[in-house]
Amino acid sequence: MSDPIERVDIGRASLYRGNALDVLTQIGAVDTILSDPVWPNCPTGLIAGSEDPPRLWQETMRVMRIPTRLVVVLRGDSDPRFLAPVPTALPFFRLIHLPYTIPAFVGRKLGRDEIAYWFGDPIRPGRGRNLIPSRAPAAQPTDARTNGHPCSRALKHFDWLVEWTSDPGETILDPFMGSGTTGVAAMRLGRRFIGIEIDPKWFDLACRQIDQAERQGVLFDGPAIPRPGRSRNPTATAGVTPMLPLLDRRPP
Ligand SMILES: C[S@@+](CC[C@H](N)C(=O)[O-])C[C@H]1O[C@@H](n2cnc3c(N)ncnc32)[C@H](O)[C@@H]1O
Repeated sequence: MSDPIERVDIGRASLYRGNALDVLTQIGAVDTILSDPVWPNCPTGLIAGSEDPPRLWQETMRVMRIPTRLVVVLRGDSDPRFLAPVPTALPFFRLIHLPYTIPAFVGRKLGRDEIAYWFGDPIRPGRGRNLIPSRAPAAQPTDARTNGHPCSRALKHFDWLVEWTSDPGETILDPFMGSGTTGVAAMRLGRRFIGIEIDPKWFDLACRQIDQAERQGVLFDGPAIPRPGRSRNPTATAGVTPMLPLLDRRPP
């Protein structure tokens, strides 16, 4: 039997501690799934799910509701055939290079840059958003390793990804949120966020980081959204509350 699911609400974010394969079955369709899943070349034992990343990904694709967009971040030397289970209902849109200021190396491969693979629809066209770039700004190599999680990503890259792969006020879901980088970026850019993490240690870290970002408010352009505050619901064991106002789709 799976562990009980815990839900924590922090302003515009709803965070679930539990197995994404359980939680996803109870979450409605969102605008953008933006995630850095367990990579196919993740060393076994480093994080939960590293025993069989392709199987975890395949099951994730099977149980998720099809979003408007799916954006998956992998390192440049992660085999992209890992992405084969992405549903054909989400056509490939483009890839985006996430570079660092200083190139590092893995064995003989120079450059530990990451790649974001974007499937599904583009964002709405608008002033300054008609042409979608292929390259995010370079992050410092240290940006990704400051919070204790062994695979935390650079906030600079995720700020950029949230900005370009969703529209203000939309809902972003990260089923493998780790230390919560996607959620922090979502708070900073005025998006709603749903995050799932199986490891209690990283879940608590994500809660703290997202709480802090929520308190700082929207840093970049975004609509004025009421901030309902924080509540913890450790008794939500029988299942996740089916999508509350948080997931209401905006009228077209
Ligand atoms: C690559 S890390 C994500 C790191 C994140 N982007 C960050 O910046 O901290 C993947 C995360 O997925 C979590 N995970 C693995 N299997 C999971 C599952 N079945 N359900 C939910 N989370 C899972 C791991 O514990 C890990 O924290």
